[in-house]
Amino acid sequence: MKPFEIFCACPPGLEQYLEAEALEAGFKGATAVPGGVQFAGLWPNVMRANLTLRGASRILARFANFRCFNLSQLEKQTRDIDWHSVLRSDIPVRVDVTTRKSKVYHAGAAKERIEKAIAERLGASIASEDAVKIMVRIEDNMCTFSIDTSGAPLHQRGHKEAVGKAPMRESLASLFLRASGYDGTEPVLDPMCGSGTFVLEAAEIAQGLLPGRTRSFAFEQLASFMPDRWADLRSAKLTNDITTRFYGSDRNHGAIQNATANAQRAGLSDLCTFTCASISDLQRPDSPAGLVILNPPYGARIGDKKQLFALYASLGKTLNDRFKGWRVAIITTDTGLAHTTNLAFSDTSAPIPHGGLKVRLHQTKALM
Ligand SMILES: C[S@@+](CC[C@H](N)C(=O)[O-])C[C@H]1O[C@@H](n2cnc3c(N)ncnc32)[C@H](O)[C@@H]1O
Repeated sequence: MKPFEIFCACPPGLEQYLEAEALEAGFKGATAVPGGVQFAGLWPNVMRANLTLRGASRILARFANFRCFNLSQLEKQTRDIDWHSVLRSDIPVRVDVTTRKSKVYHAGAAKERIEKAIAERLGASIASEDAVKIMVRIEDNMCTFSIDTSGAPLHQRGHKEAVGKAPMRESLASLFLRASGYDGTEPVLDPMCGSGTFVLEAAEIAQGLLPGRTRSFAFEQLASFMPDRWADLRSAKLTNDITTRFYGSDRNHGAIQNATANAQRAGLSDLCTFTCASISDLQRPDSPAGLVILNPPYGARIGDKKQLFALYASLGKTLNDRFKGWRVAIITTDTGLAHTTNLAFSDTSAPIPHGGLKVRLHQTKALM
C-alpha cells in the first residue's frame, strides 16, 4: 500500500503545539493545518499516533480520494476502492458524508450510494452506532475517504473515571502545558485541580508514560490491524526515573478524592500529592520553582461575577506573595477576570474553543 495522509485533529488555535509534539515523536513531515496536523504514513504510523500523541483528539486515516461529478461516478469509484485491505466484513460500518461546492451536493443521496457500494463490495452491514466510522468529504468535486481510527476521543485515556462538573480534557490540558513551556522537567502545581487533569498529564509527560497505554482503539477492528506490531509498540518501555513531583489542591473534598483515585488508576500516586485547601490557604511546596497552571471557575451567570472577581483576586494575591520564581498559566474565558489577579501576564493566547466556550491562556514569566 502507498503512504496515505494521516490527520490528527486538535482544537483550532493549538495546531502549532501538536505539530511540535508530532515532530518530536518522529512523525516526519508533520505540518499544522487548520484544526490539526497532517503527515504521510502507513498503518503502523496510525497506531503509533493514537498511542503516543497527547494533544490529538482523534486520528483519521485518509485512505482514498478521487474526483467525481455525479452520483453514478461516486458509486462506481467507491466500489473500486480495495475495501478488503481496510475493513473487515464482520464489523459494521457507519458512513458520514459532507459536501461543499460540488456537483454532488446532496449528502444524503451520496451516503446512500457509498453505503450500497461498500455493502456490495465488502459484505459488511451498515450501522448507525457502535461501528467503524467512515467519513467522506466531497469538496470542490474531490471526494476524500477517512476512517476514524481512534473510536472514543483520545482525551479518554482510560484512567480518569472520577470527574467533577467541568473537567478539562486531557488532550487540551497537554497542549496548554506545552504552550506554557512545560517540557517534563519541572514541578507543576494546580491549586484548583478538580479531577487533577493538569497534574496527571504533567506527571505522565515527565515519566514518559504513553497516553494510550491501556485503552482500546477503533483501528483494532480494521482489516489493516497488525496485532504483533501493536503489541510491540504498546509494550515499549520508555519511562524515565524522575525525582520531580506534582501537586494539586482544591477546596472541594470530593474533587481531591477524585483526583487521588485517578492518580492511583494511572499509576501516578507516588509522584502526585493532592491536598484539600482553599486558594487563600495554599502553601508553596518544598520543591524547586516550576509551573502553576489552572482553569479557575468562570461562571456565565451575572450573579456569579462578584464572587469570581474576589476569587481571582485571592488567587493572584496568594501566587504573588508565596510563589516567587514560579511561572503561572491561567486558562479562562474572561480576560477581565484574569487581570483581576494582578499577575504580570507576558502573553495572552488567541481564543480557543473549550466546552462550548472560548478560553484564552494567560501566562506570566517567573514571578518576581
Ligand atoms: C473549572 S474547575 C477545574 C477543573 C479541573 N482543571 C479538571 O480538569 O477537573 C475549577 C475548580 O476550582 C475549585 N475551586 C473553586 N473555588 C476555589 C477556591 N477558593 N479554592 C480552591 N479551589 C477552588 C472548584 O472546586 C473546581 O474544582
